[in-house]
Amino acid sequence: MGIDKVIKDRRSVREYKDKKVDKHIIQDILETLKSKKGLRDSIKIGFEFIEEGEEVYRNLDGIVGYFGKVIKAPHYIYIVSDIKDGYLENSGYLGEKLVLKATDLGLGTCWIEIAEDIGKVKEILKVEEDKDLIGLLAIGYPRRETKVGGMYNTRGKSISPLTEFGYPNIDVQYSEQPVSGRVSVEDIVYLNNWGERAKVEDLEHRGMAEAFYHMRLAPSWGNRQPWKFIIDGDKIVLTLCKDDRVSEKVARIEAGIAMLYFELMIHQIGIPGQWILEKPEKHYDIPENFFIAGYYTI
Ligand SMILES: Cc1cc2nc3c(=O)[nH]c(=O)nc-3n(C[C@H](O)[C@H](O)[C@H](O)COP(=O)(O)O)c2cc1C
Repeated sequence: MGIDKVIKDRRSVREYKDKKVDKHIIQDILETLKSKKGLRDSIKIGFEFIEEGEEVYRNLDGIVGYFGKVIKAPHYIYIVSDIKDGYLENSGYLGEKLVLKATDLGLGTCWIEIAEDIGKVKEILKVEEDKDLIGLLAIGYPRRETKVGGMYNTRGKSISPLTEFGYPNIDVQYSEQPVSGRVSVEDIVYLNNWGERAKVEDLEHRGMAEAFYHMRLAPSWGNRQPWKFIIDGDKIVLTLCKDDRVSEKVARIEAGIAMLYFELMIHQIGIPGQWILEKPEKHYDIPENFFIAGYYTI
């Protein structure tokens, strides 16, 4: 499958069939990942497979995931990284490579945040003290969901708490393509400076419209879609919104995920280049509630 199709097919899966995934399939995914390039290949990162999801579900329910709700899945993979400059972006980037590979194989996944009591979760998962636990990925065969995130429905209320995370209404029915809403390309791309919105024609003229269109389909915490890009000559600067609801850690993981989507698409289109995890010289009048995660250089 072409990467654009895989990106379109991916969605966060929160209901799984009660069917195990063959161990060899998971091993293949993890093995393929070892040969994939990260954003910082000098940083050691580990993807640990939990075959028996049931025990993790029991032990972690109440302490990880939105509202402390763990997504029930046959298996989980957790991501552990050395703590070095750029490790969060690198983890998001590689974690999402895993997600896309799994999607291509017909598997469902969902990122699960670890926001509260990370020490306890590290203890349960036996993560070494000097490493950071990035997150947990649910993995398995997707069950056909009829509602977006039905698991978060609150008793007696038709509107779920997820509404405040960007879902218009939890009762939204999925059709053939169950994906949650996204902002338009014109809402996330600026030309030369902050606030100077790019038109689709400007992006088409640069051969980049498709890359941004697909980039928007990247997952983000609570579907907050925190990205704004500034195209400045041969640099494409990625900025992300700081938000009271998320930590800097989550925002940097989201940055890595966004970098991956953009890079995969722009490479497919035939525009070479790479991400630099540094601030460019110019400031671009970026407001206080945004930060620069890095820039893509053609
Ligand atoms: C860092 C991160 C943490 C997330 N944590 C959770 C979580 O704990 N529970 C959950 O149901 N979804 C979680 N998600 C999934 C997002 O809610 C989802 O990506 C977003 O709503 C967009 O929907 P989509 O992935 O189906 O396109 C997380 C996503 C990211 C990137």
